[in-house]
Amino acid sequence: MGAGGLKILEHKNIRERSQRTAWFQDARFGMFIHWGLYAIPARGEWVRSTERIRHEDYLEYFREFDAAEYEPREWARLAKKAGMKYAVLTAKHHDGFCLWDTKLTDFKSTNTPAGRDMVREYLEAFREEGLKAGLYFSIIDWRHPDFPHYGDRQHPLRDDPAEKNDARDFNRYLDFMHSQIRELLTGYGRLDIMWFDFSYGKMKGAAWKAQELISMVRSLQPWLVVDNRLEGSGEESGTILTANPSDYAGDFACPEQMIPPGGIMNELGQPVPWEACITLNNHWGYCAADSHWKSADMVIRMLVECVSKGGNLLLNVGPDAKGRIPAASAAVLEEVGRWMADNGESIYGCGAAAYPKPEWGRFTQKGKKLYAHVFEPQAGGVCLPGLAGKVGALRLLADGSEVRAAKYWNLAEYPEHVFFHLNPQSFDSYPLPDPRDTVVEVRLKT
Ligand code: GLC
Repeated sequence: MGAGGLKILEHKNIRERSQRTAWFQDARFGMFIHWGLYAIPARGEWVRSTERIRHEDYLEYFREFDAAEYEPREWARLAKKAGMKYAVLTAKHHDGFCLWDTKLTDFKSTNTPAGRDMVREYLEAFREEGLKAGLYFSIIDWRHPDFPHYGDRQHPLRDDPAEKNDARDFNRYLDFMHSQIRELLTGYGRLDIMWFDFSYGKMKGAAWKAQELISMVRSLQPWLVVDNRLEGSGEESGTILTANPSDYAGDFACPEQMIPPGGIMNELGQPVPWEACITLNNHWGYCAADSHWKSADMVIRMLVECVSKGGNLLLNVGPDAKGRIPAASAAVLEEVGRWMADNGESIYGCGAAAYPKPEWGRFTQKGKKLYAHVFEPQAGGVCLPGLAGKVGALRLLADGSEVRAAKYWNLAEYPEHVFFHLNPQSFDSYPLPDPRDTVVEVRLKT
C-alpha cells in the first residue's frame, strides 16, 4: 500500500522481473568469464579497438587458438568452491569471435585448431556442478561487415576513411545478430541468464530492434534473467530505473567496476535487482602484464557490501590462451571459498538490513536473522546501535559458538545500544576471530 492507503499498481514488467529474478537475488555471487582469441595477445578484450587492429591481422590468433588445456569442469569446480552460484561466459565479445558452433559465421571456435564448441562444454560442466549458467553476448560486432566502422565510437577502424559505411546494411547485421541469439536460445538447453553488452549513443533500444529481440527471447525462454544493456551500459541504466520500464529494460541493472552507494532504487523508491560486475585484476580478458590482483579480503568485503545494499557480485576471471584460469585468480577464489564455507548463510538469500550501516562493518539480513559483518577490531564491545530490547541470542556464524552481549560499568550511559564482545577475556574486540570478516548472527526478537 502506498501513502494514504492508495495501492500502487505495479507495472507488469516489474512484477515479472521480480518473479524471474527470485533465484538470482538469492544466489548473490557469480563468476564472469571473459575468454576468447584476445587471450593470446593478452592485453585485454578491447585489444582490437585500443590498438586499431584490422580483422585480417587479428586472424593470426584465430589460426593459432588451440585452447589445449580448456577444462570447463575445473572452472565449474573452482566457481563452486568459491561459493559462487552461477556463471556467465562470453559466448561472443565485441571482436565477433564465437565460442560456439554457430551456423552464421565461420569466425568460431570450431574452426580454430581447438575445434571445440566451448559454450556447449561450459554449459554442461557448470550444470553438472549444480550451478546456474548463462551467456554474455556482445550486441556490438567489430568483425561483421555490416556493423558501422568509420566514425563509430569504438570500432577498430573508426578512423579509417576507407571504411565508410555507405555500403553497409545495418538491418542485415541485425538479422544476423538476432539469429545468433536464437541459435543460442534454441540449441543449448535451458539458459539461466543472458548478458547483452552494450548500448551507446544512438545505438540503443530501438536501434537494435530490441522489442522484436526481447519478444523472441521471452517466447523461447521466458524464465531467462536478462541484463539491462539492450538500452543501457555500465554508464547508463535505462528505463529499468523508472516506474514504467520498457519490455527490454532488463531484469537487473549492472553497474560496472563500482558498487553503487545505497544500492539501486527506481523512481518510486522500489529496490531494483542489480549486479555489480567487477574484475579481479584490472582487465576482463586475460592480461599477462596485469598482476594487480584484489585480495581475498577485498573480494569478501565487496561481496558483503553488495549484499548489504541488496545486490549481487559478478566477479570476473580471464582464462589464458591455453584455457586456464590464472593461478593467482584461483588462489583468491579458493580463499574466498573458505570464508564462504563458514559464512555463506550471511550471503545467500540475504539482502539489505532494516538497520543503517554500522561503524565497524556492514549488516546483511534474512528475516529475523541479522548478520553483523565485523571488519574492524573495536576497542571495547562491538556496538549494535539502537538494538536494546530487540536482540535474542548471538552466535559466531563460523562455528555456532555463543557470543555474549555484556553490560560493563563503562556502558552505563548507553542503555539504548547492545554491545557484544568478541574477546571475552578482555574489554576489547581484538584481534577479530576472522580478520577478513567476522560474522555474528544476531537473532532478532521481532
Ligand atoms: C564493457 C566492456 C567489456 C566488458 C563488459 C563487462 O561494457 O565493453 O569489455 O565485457 O563491460 O561489464
